[in-house]
Amino acid sequence: MTLVGFLAALGGALRDAAATSAPAPTAPPSQLTVCRFWEPSLRASSGAPRALIAALERLGPSLSWTQNPNYRRRPPDATFLDNYGYAVIAGPTDGPPALAAAPRLALGVLLLGPHAHYPLHAHPAVEIYYTLTSGGEWWRDEGPWRQEPPGSVIHHAPNVRHATRAGTSALLAIYLWRGELATHAKLTTAGETAG
Ligand SMILES: [Fe+2]
Repeated sequence: MTLVGFLAALGGALRDAAATSAPAPTAPPSQLTVCRFWEPSLRASSGAPRALIAALERLGPSLSWTQNPNYRRRPPDATFLDNYGYAVIAGPTDGPPALAAAPRLALGVLLLGPHAHYPLHAHPAVEIYYTLTSGGEWWRDEGPWRQEPPGSVIHHAPNVRHATRAGTSALLAIYLWRGELATHAKLTTAGETAG
């Protein structure tokens, strides 16, 4: 199944569950300041498959947004936490709240506000991003920065350092983690060069 098909199926299953016998949630979904960019980002995702955006629109009200505790303790800059967040669509039950349990993968969305800079970081999980918005720039290993249009697939091998920065509009991307899911990303000390 393709990523688009998976998300469309997941969105449909959640809609069906909500319409039938789904129990009332014990707590409302968590929101973050960066969520103000969720709907504008979906509207700006014109280059991404329509079925995928429709699935995310359905999932949106149910998403619980969270932030890496390493960044909450030591934010990389003063505005970062107001312009960064992620929400898990499917993932392990002992991780951040997920809409569906998945013990061996983590799938979700990353949202960055306009001009947000998510600096170099690394983690042992394998990571794939699927970009939904335009204007974002991505850095891997030794760089340089490169623009990736909507619909790009970006691969990060385990422990490779990588960074992302949004352009003049917010950046929305789907991420998929496989492998070592329990270890959060950590910022790395070496910075990117200007560019
Ligand atoms: Fe990453």
